[in-house]
Amino acid sequence: MIDLRSDTLTKPTDAMRAAMARAEVGDDVYGEDPTVRALEELVAGLFGHEAALFTPTGSMANVLAVGSLVSPGQEVLCESSAHIARAELGAHAAVGGLTMRTWTHPRGQVDLGAVSSMFAPDMGPFFVPTAAVSVENTHNFAGGAVLPLRDLRDLRDFAVGAGARIHLDGARIWNAHVATGTALADYGAIADVLSVCLSKGLGAPVGSLLVGSADAVAQARVRRKRLGGGMRQVGILAAAGLHALDAVHGHVERLADDHAHARLLADACGVDPATVDTNIVVMHRQDAAAYVAAAEAAGVRIATVGPTAVRMVTHLDVTRADAEQAAAVLARL
Ligand SMILES: Cc1ncc(COP(=O)(O)O)c(C=O)c1O
Repeated sequence: MIDLRSDTLTKPTDAMRAAMARAEVGDDVYGEDPTVRALEELVAGLFGHEAALFTPTGSMANVLAVGSLVSPGQEVLCESSAHIARAELGAHAAVGGLTMRTWTHPRGQVDLGAVSSMFAPDMGPFFVPTAAVSVENTHNFAGGAVLPLRDLRDLRDFAVGAGARIHLDGARIWNAHVATGTALADYGAIADVLSVCLSKGLGAPVGSLLVGSADAVAQARVRRKRLGGGMRQVGILAAAGLHALDAVHGHVERLADDHAHARLLADACGVDPATVDTNIVVMHRQDAAAYVAAAEAAGVRIATVGPTAVRMVTHLDVTRADAEQAAAVLARL
């Protein structure tokens, strides 16, 4: 079975497991896990921010990150198929007590006209005050689309002028970085706070980080503990992230292979490969569920992400030969 449902399905490599086994650990709730601290320092530095906080999931990093900008009773603006809006089981409302208003873009892009027309930080006693804008790069449900740096910079300029703050859901920011050559620090500079994941394209079994100012991270550390996310000798997991980010192991650089494999799949499925920026292909079909079932029967596991949307995702555990075989099956279907 070639499993293209998600890039979260990867299993840690033997070398990653060995690094995890060797990790020096301590109690991270006491701030005494050297491996977690090393990972947090490394990732904060990569994005040009003061600090970072290790979290078990991207969802928790997002809840803490958005919550650091938006108080209960305030709103965040985002694209309508953003992960924070469509997925995460409504955590931002249920836990963060905030509301969202959205704009819609088929490729998940920033719509500055929509943002500026919705942005309303203080419209009197009836209206929800807007506190922040959230963007997702790459954009999962828009098929791994990259948000161009110039659009993000325009949004940043607007936000600075208007007094809005920016959250970047960078679960797959590494894919955007490899696809465009944009420095991680340039992406970091457009956001007040961002979340990044180690457990997707990079192949770590667990782990995300919130990245931001020392104050935001100190506050998020308290809120993480309140949510039950204060972990103890968790360096054993952080070690997997450090391993993946060490250039020697090539986990970041090799994302380019995933992108090439995704274009191969797109071509086979009649999706214009030029619209596939990274490792995700979303295809719209009326018979989405039946197509997924037929693919499964032919040895290729893919998933529906909407009534008429089928998604396939390439990752560390999909070789070139796997991608070619899957492409042949999907082309036949
Ligand atoms: C864009 C994006 N943000 C956040 C998340 C949440 O990550 P997790 O599954 O670790 O909670 C995901 C998960 O796929 C995602 O695609």
